[in-house]
Amino acid sequence: MDGLDALKAKYLEGVSGAGDEAALEELRLAALGKKGEISLKMRELGRMSPEERQTTGAALNRLKDEIDAALRAKKAALADAALDERLKAEWLDVTLPGRPRRMGTIHPVSRVMDEVTAIFADMGFAVAEGPQVESDWYNFDALNIPPEHPARQEHDTFFMARAEGDNRPPHVLRTHTSPVQIRAMTEQGAPIRVIAPGRVYRMDMDQTHTPMFHQIEGLAIGRDISMANLKWVLEEFFTAYFGVKVKTRFRASHFPFTEPSAEVDIQCSWVDGQLRIGEGDGWMEVLGSGMVHPKVLAAANVDLAEWQGFAFGMGIDRMAMLKYGIPDLRAFFESDLRWLKHYGFTPLDVPTVFGGVGG
Ligand code: PHE
Repeated sequence: MDGLDALKAKYLEGVSGAGDEAALEELRLAALGKKGEISLKMRELGRMSPEERQTTGAALNRLKDEIDAALRAKKAALADAALDERLKAEWLDVTLPGRPRRMGTIHPVSRVMDEVTAIFADMGFAVAEGPQVESDWYNFDALNIPPEHPARQEHDTFFMARAEGDNRPPHVLRTHTSPVQIRAMTEQGAPIRVIAPGRVYRMDMDQTHTPMFHQIEGLAIGRDISMANLKWVLEEFFTAYFGVKVKTRFRASHFPFTEPSAEVDIQCSWVDGQLRIGEGDGWMEVLGSGMVHPKVLAAANVDLAEWQGFAFGMGIDRMAMLKYGIPDLRAFFESDLRWLKHYGFTPLDVPTVFGGVGG
């Protein structure tokens, strides 16, 4: 059958030259579709003699199978080629090192808070908290600082704005962490041992003062807690914090909320303009402290006949400056990335008393 040979040559050539699936589909329809050339020839079989029908029919079926097989093979080849193209284009070297990402650092204030908390936790102190916007009762009155007391002026207090006619008692940005003493005693009663780290605010700004800074309050109330316990606890703390034996010196002082009151200095020396803690015969003032005033206990509903104890308050920012040799307090709160990178700590290095709290 000459016609069939010609058809076969035409379609097999077409298939081998087809560039994409659409071209293949077009060829399939032209040959094998309902109105395709092969299908039309099939229909002519009916008009043939039985012998002719047998040979031509068989030949047509073979041709149909051949074209069909060629179409499938070409389709698979096109898909393979497309995949090769894609693999070449999207090739990725998974052995290359990743791009380094800049990691953040822990701010020295956060770091020191963690260190201080770890040391006091080891001595049985829990962490207590209070609000930064505080009523003036908690910030002053309950701490034995009545309205006319001069200490109120010394605190350079920020007052919360009040609309005219709003007669609620005034609120302030807390000027120290001492109001947390009242809250902790009122909530937990005695005996109690807490520290309260947090932000405090005063209108002040120079190389060693910022309007917002950090304090840590300490409070221990028990049946026979004395100044001697306070001295021991503070010396243990400074020794653990600075990593060297540190002596303290208590100087008589005055705070409305403690009686007696003491300012505490730590031993230090200046060598070639550099401060060294825990040696020499110099002293540096680091905190205020004393025995909790009976009026303060009373304000927090603690029975004076049964309980007494000590309190102290210390500047966290100053503690960080002393330990890590940071000269200017204002830089603490400027969020300069270069400063943070230099003075910050790696997040993976978590301070514990056992692993050493040192930097
Ligand atoms: N609250 C005091 C201050 O900010 C510090 C202090 C706390 C003193 C507790 C004595 C007892 O200066």
